Amino acid sequence: MTSRPIESSMDERRRFPPPETFRARAVVTDERVYEEAGREPEAFWERAAGDLHWFRRWDQVLDWNLPDARWFVGGRTNMAFNCLDRHLTTARRNKAAILWEGEPGETRVLTYWDLAREVNRCANALLSMGVRRGDRVAIYMPMIPELPIAMLACARIGAVHAVVFGGFSAEALRDRINDAQAKMVITADGGYRKGTIIPLKRNVDQAIADVPTVRHVLVVRRIGEAAAIHMVEGRDRWWHRALDGMRMDSPAEEMDSEELLYILYTSGTTGKPKGIVHTTGGYMVGTYLTTKWIFDLREDDLFWCTADIGWVTGHSYVAYGPLLNGASILMYEGAPDWPERDRFWELVEKYGVTVFYTAPTAIRTFIRWGADWPARHDLSTLRLLGTVGEPINPEAWMWYRKHIGGDRCPIVDTWWQTETGMILITPLPGITTLKPGSATVPFPGIEAHVVDEHGAQVPPNAGGYLVLRRPWPAMLRGIYGDPARFRREYWERIPGVYFTGDGARRDEDGHFWLLGRVDDVINVAGHRIGTMEVESALVAHPKVAEAAVVGMQHEIKGQALAAFVTLKEGVDSGGDVTDELRAHVTQKIGAIARPDRIMFAAELPKTRSGKIMRRLLRDIAEGRLLGDTTTLADLSVIQGLRERYEEDVQD
Ligand code: PRX
Repeated sequence: MTSRPIESSMDERRRFPPPETFRARAVVTDERVYEEAGREPEAFWERAAGDLHWFRRWDQVLDWNLPDARWFVGGRTNMAFNCLDRHLTTARRNKAAILWEGEPGETRVLTYWDLAREVNRCANALLSMGVRRGDRVAIYMPMIPELPIAMLACARIGAVHAVVFGGFSAEALRDRINDAQAKMVITADGGYRKGTIIPLKRNVDQAIADVPTVRHVLVVRRIGEAAAIHMVEGRDRWWHRALDGMRMDSPAEEMDSEELLYILYTSGTTGKPKGIVHTTGGYMVGTYLTTKWIFDLREDDLFWCTADIGWVTGHSYVAYGPLLNGASILMYEGAPDWPERDRFWELVEKYGVTVFYTAPTAIRTFIRWGADWPARHDLSTLRLLGTVGEPINPEAWMWYRKHIGGDRCPIVDTWWQTETGMILITPLPGITTLKPGSATVPFPGIEAHVVDEHGAQVPPNAGGYLVLRRPWPAMLRGIYGDPARFRREYWERIPGVYFTGDGARRDEDGHFWLLGRVDDVINVAGHRIGTMEVESALVAHPKVAEAAVVGMQHEIKGQALAAFVTLKEGVDSGGDVTDELRAHVTQKIGAIARPDRIMFAAELPKTRSGKIMRRLLRDIAEGRLLGDTTTLADLSVIQGLRERYEEDVQD
């Protein structure tokens, strides 16, 4: 394990108790929920499960045989039924489920009934194309309503979706389709981002050129002529044609609580992304209750989570959690600065968003753009704000509170991961006294601890590893096709507990302060990138002999990537090799993994046994004094590198 220096917030003394007006109407205000859930967590989760529809009730709430947890054992349910059908017999039938705005400005509103109709038609179309319960379906789409429709249609018939973020390259998509052995891909002819067209369908064509498992590609017409795509006879079908004439009567499969709902790929500490597996019943209960309590959802709220559905935040808090609660959600297709830097605030004003959930990297960007942009709009409908994805600096928290929240909205700083499926450390906005920069306390029923490398609890305010001691309903059930890696990465680092990969400190009030990753995973603008993945991409380039990638602090993105590269003999680092390598990483993974800095070196600093000393490269990239160099084979390598790096920065 490696550790990075951490910005300390030990002297943060500001406190924000829930405003009286907020508390008076909040969904949860009774602090005893913590004690009750702590004492009897299974009874606590069982009560939440009782709010949802089960075709067959569970026999046992939890079966825990480390590391395998099974929740609501023997229960049978269906996620899409709970997101849709359950509401159709109530006043929510004609309530807006999705308010959508495309980047160029078109709008669509789908009521719960409309959404149910489209999901049923899509489910029938999938069945007609041979997709069956348990089959994997890859989804590679822009932020348009057909994306949650496709997910819900899969859930309805018991197919397992694997959504791949539309910013990933064709090669990254191919690896994920192959790993999941997907039978079908659902995509669009393209998507809009800052006025340009993202060629999604063309990427799919490239990705599946020699993937034998994929039989069909279902294509939404988002762009039209300008996308200039080619439909492959017998394989590709237009969404609108395939759904045309399909009936609204697709029965919801009665899924076992532990049957797969989805796979979502995320970066780890090796070059190969891991397919995180989530199952039906526990994930449903976890996302249902956390959405309701943390975002304090009421019937008349309009909830806007700005994440792309391609990430877990979008799965749990754009799609499933809010729909399980019968909420209205806003979905926006494009960039926050298109056409101007106030697009988000324009949308908040136009639709009357009440609960707004975004990432610290976005907030830091807004700060840089200036408070005049939000000031142009009436943001008075907002009553609650949230953040997720990385630690938020106290000053960014204060700016968010003032300039977006009008000094009246509580902020929920929510800590969780792709693996946890649901938020685990967070304030409850009607109860918790907030501290800027702290994700505060574990959700009721969750047991989080800060420990040393042997698993012993560290004293208050001492840094350590964040671990979870008890299973929670939405926890991952494994890594798709790799049970050994699942045990090794999460359960054997510190035996007997779930290892999060994050550092944390717990203060004297028991509040958690997240300190960033302690492994080789970098959090770039709230997106997880494995340094090994980028290294593998770089060394796959014919000019590269060796590469080491590290994270460095970045004002807006939180962290950015710095790559140290040794070129093959005889290759000149002049000209546009840097651009060439950056383009190469974009092609291998996607623009999110493109290094900010590339530094060429004749040699990389290594130990005598030949291991690259990334710790020292991090020191160089962040301009710190070099740490312990006694194990280095050749001290001059690192000294030379440092001098050149500093000259480079000054240029
Ligand atoms: O390092 C933590 C950071 O994001 C990681 C999980 O990334 P991912 O699986 O992509 O999911 C992101 C959205 C849930 C964590 O290991 N992280 C997430 N939320 C916070 C955070 N760090 C500090 N504070 C948070 N609120």
